[in-house]
Amino acid sequence: MTLDAQKMQKTIHTLLTPGKGILAADESSGTIKKRFASIALESTEESRRDYRDMLLTTQGYQNFISGVILYDETVDQKSRKGPTFSETIAARGVIPGIKTDEGKEEHPFWNPQSLTRGLNGLGKRLKEYTDRSNGTLGFTKWRQVILVDPTPSVSFLDYAMHIMAEQAAWSQSEGYVPICEPEILMDGSHALDQCASVTSRTLEMLYTCMEAQQVDPALTILKTNMVLSGKETKKDAPEDVGTATLKAFQASLPSSMPGIVFLSGGQSSVQATENLNACALQAKKVKAPWILTFSYGRALQDDALKTWGGKNENVAAAQEAFLKRARLNGLAQRGEYAKTME
Ligand code: 13P
Repeated sequence: MTLDAQKMQKTIHTLLTPGKGILAADESSGTIKKRFASIALESTEESRRDYRDMLLTTQGYQNFISGVILYDETVDQKSRKGPTFSETIAARGVIPGIKTDEGKEEHPFWNPQSLTRGLNGLGKRLKEYTDRSNGTLGFTKWRQVILVDPTPSVSFLDYAMHIMAEQAAWSQSEGYVPICEPEILMDGSHALDQCASVTSRTLEMLYTCMEAQQVDPALTILKTNMVLSGKETKKDAPEDVGTATLKAFQASLPSSMPGIVFLSGGQSSVQATENLNACALQAKKVKAPWILTFSYGRALQDDALKTWGGKNENVAAAQEAFLKRARLNGLAQRGEYAKTME
């Protein structure tokens, strides 16, 4: 085995530690501006630094968080105490990673389905990230969003998943574990089984494209959605989500792939924890070969962001709110969460 493969295996082993999950703190400049607008805070280099400092200096979060996904700016941004955020995270035994995609762009004819951009010069950018993070980054993340309605065509899925597979190839060639994130969106009024069908078609396509591009599935992590009804319809029972999600995975994923980390995708914080717990229980029941855990953005941060409100005096309370969600999701990863713990 090459040194890079050993490094990637170690990264995967740490990221998929039972009882832990990943914090997605990789909001792009546009997204963080929207998040801050919800607390009437202007997004500046300093306010973004202060917010991420609040999250990433929380005492004990490493007990429930194994990795943190960062956005370009945050990689070598200095935390309040001095070291960069990448170094601050790594010093706790948590692995920092980097969002490598450069957002989505409309396609003239596939619209409203869109394509993720960011392959140009990616090999060079990854080398720069190694330097900028002082060698602490361990993984990449690339997100492609997919609408259930209109039904994505085979050609669209094939093209989009080939792009994602190429990003995975570049990542592995630089020793980074690719976290591949096809996100079937909750937008719309589709039924649970429509989401299930698009999810398994997409995942099957992704691993077919990886094979074509000689990406080793054993050195990847899948980040994806749970199977859910559209957000304009009813709220699904967690047991239904667990059953449908595991069924979609079993229909489409190779058993050599080590783990799936879920995005929260617009579910409420409590809903995301409840559904993770149901997926964990179902995974045990069907003896799934993969480790399942969380890689939440909003479902880990929403309460903390609201509590913080951009004010220094609220840092301790906001950190407590963040730690609570991290702890409860850690329990849900093991299937040991109950709503009464809220
Ligand atoms: P959410 O959990 O807020 O969906 O974010 C996860 C993520 O990484 C989106 O790319």
